[in-house]
Amino acid sequence: MIVIKTKKEIELMQESGRIVALAHEEVKKAIKPGVTTGELDAIAEAVIKENGAVPSFKGYHGYPGSICASVNDQVIHGIPGETILREGDIISIDIGAFKNGYHGDAARTHPVGKVSDEASKLIKITEESFFEGLKFCQIGYRLSDISNAIQTYAEENGFSVVRDFVGHGIGRQMHEDPPVPNYGAAGRGPRLESGMALAIEPMINVGGFKVVVLDDEWTVITKDGTLSAHYENTVIITEDGPIMTTYSDSEVK
Ligand code: MF3
Ligand code: CO
Repeated sequence: MIVIKTKKEIELMQESGRIVALAHEEVKKAIKPGVTTGELDAIAEAVIKENGAVPSFKGYHGYPGSICASVNDQVIHGIPGETILREGDIISIDIGAFKNGYHGDAARTHPVGKVSDEASKLIKITEESFFEGLKFCQIGYRLSDISNAIQTYAEENGFSVVRDFVGHGIGRQMHEDPPVPNYGAAGRGPRLESGMALAIEPMINVGGFKVVVLDDEWTVITKDGTLSAHYENTVIITEDGPIMTTYSDSEVK
C-alpha cells in the first residue's frame, strides 16, 4: 500500500531531509586521503543528533553504523570502521535521518583526491541518471517511467544498473511501498500521485550488474570487482513538481 503524504507530513519530511543534506555536506568536507570511514560515520551522527534527529540506519535489522560508507567495488551497505581512504578511491555515503516520525534518505558518491577518468565519469553518470529519472517525477507518469529513464541513461553511457537492490517509498517507515527499480520497461506500475514519497537511488557499475553480499551480511560488492557508484534523494511528488527533501541549495549546478 502506497501511503500518500499530506501537506503537513511533507513539511515534516522536508525537515528530516534537510538534516540528511546537512550531514552529507559535513561528511563531504571531511573526505580526504587518510581519513577512516568510522570518522565519517561519527561526523554524520553528530550532525543528525545536533539537529534533534536520530540516524535511521543504526540498529535497522542490527545494522551497526549511522551511515553506509562503500568504497570502490563496494556498491552499498559498507560498514564504517577502520577502513582508511586513499587517494584515487571513490566512496559512496548513504545517510538517513528520522525526526518527528518521518525519515529522509540520501546517498552521494565522492572522489578521494584525484581519481581516474573512468571513476569520475561513473560518479557523474550515476548522479545524472537520477536526474533523468527525476524528469518523470510528475503527476500522470507511471513509476517505471522513472526506472526506465535511469536505466536508459546509465546503459547509453556504457555502465550497468544493479538489479538486486532498488529504491523505495519512504515516510513513517524508511522502506515503504512501492519498490522503485532502476531498470525496466516504461509505462508500468502505479501512476504517480501528489503526496507520494520515493527514495530514488540508482546503483551503477562500471562492469556487469551482478553483485555479491559479503560474509558480514551487509556489504554488497560488484561480482566482477569493478567500481560502483550510488546516488539517492528522497523525492515527493506534488502538483507543483517534485520536492527533493534531501537536496541542498548548495548542490544546485
Ligand atoms: N539507503 C539505504 C536503503 O535505502 C539504507 C539502508 S542501510 C541499512 O535501504 F543499514 F539501514 F539497512
Ligand atoms: Co534508500
